[in-house]
Amino acid sequence: MMLISRSQEKLDDVARSLEEQFKVETRTIAVDFGRMDIYSKIEEGLADLEIGVLVNNVGVSYPYPEYYLHIPDLENFITNTINVNMTSVCQMTRLVLPKMVERSKGVVLNISSASGMYPVPLLTVYSATKAFVDFFSRGLHEEYRRQGIIIQSVLPFFVVTKMTRIRKPTLDKPTPERYVAAELNTVGLQNQTNGYFPHAVMGWVTTRLVPSSIVIFLGARMNRLQRSGYLHRRKLREQRNGASLKTE
Ligand SMILES: NC(=O)c1ccc[n+]([C@@H]2O[C@H](COP(=O)([O-])OP(=O)(O)OC[C@H]3O[C@@H](n4cnc5c(N)ncnc54)[C@H](OP(=O)(O)O)[C@@H]3O)[C@@H](O)[C@H]2O)c1
Repeated sequence: MMLISRSQEKLDDVARSLEEQFKVETRTIAVDFGRMDIYSKIEEGLADLEIGVLVNNVGVSYPYPEYYLHIPDLENFITNTINVNMTSVCQMTRLVLPKMVERSKGVVLNISSASGMYPVPLLTVYSATKAFVDFFSRGLHEEYRRQGIIIQSVLPFFVVTKMTRIRKPTLDKPTPERYVAAELNTVGLQNQTNGYFPHAVMGWVTTRLVPSSIVIFLGARMNRLQRSGYLHRRKLREQRNGASLKTE
């Protein structure tokens, strides 16, 4: 098992728990996928390994839903989001796919998002990068499936993770464990999947039943509400901090 992510400390923790729980040798590479000069380091790290399954999971979203021109530090946000969400998928596939093709065997799971199924206003850059991941995966699947390679586009709705800041799992917002267990059952059966039955129903409703103009309109409304809630909470926090500074 090779884990590639940003923080060495977190990587060490996960590696340790995988080794203890599953008795699998686990190595790590710490890199920032926001950068473009990391792929020779990754290539070196992978040189002596036979990679059977590549999971392109790394991804970043917005700190909160926001209008394009109001995104904080927009210039860096654009570069970082594109590098983490899109460049990583293309470059990791470039490094790993050749040996899979040689062996006529391999699986690549690309984690897109339900936000890539239609434009999601106020998360527009994220949504567009995830649409790219979906198109890239489906195109590549058709190119390589006859050579024994499965390339799957995975499009989850909400899952309880650090990214969503949702704490309480529900039927439509599963834990990562529950989502992944369901998703893995679809590998080899579906090359594009929402990965989890309740999400598949939501995917069907939002793409087949409801006109896309309404889905986009409702998405914008939901995100405008979330944005106002976030900005309101932030203002209250700032006022509280200002008040406590004055009393000190
Ligand atoms: N959660 C959802 O509801 C949901 C829905 C649809 C799609 N997705 C997709 O699922 C994937 C996983 O998301 P998640 O919810 O598990 O997100 P998450 O909890 O924020 O985890 C993202 C992971 O990516 C790493 N990472 C972020 N920026 C990085 C960078 N610049 N360089 C290296 N590593 C970096 C993070 O490392 P650190 O811990 O060091 O930050 C973390 O391990 C993403 O592609 C996301 O777009 C998630």
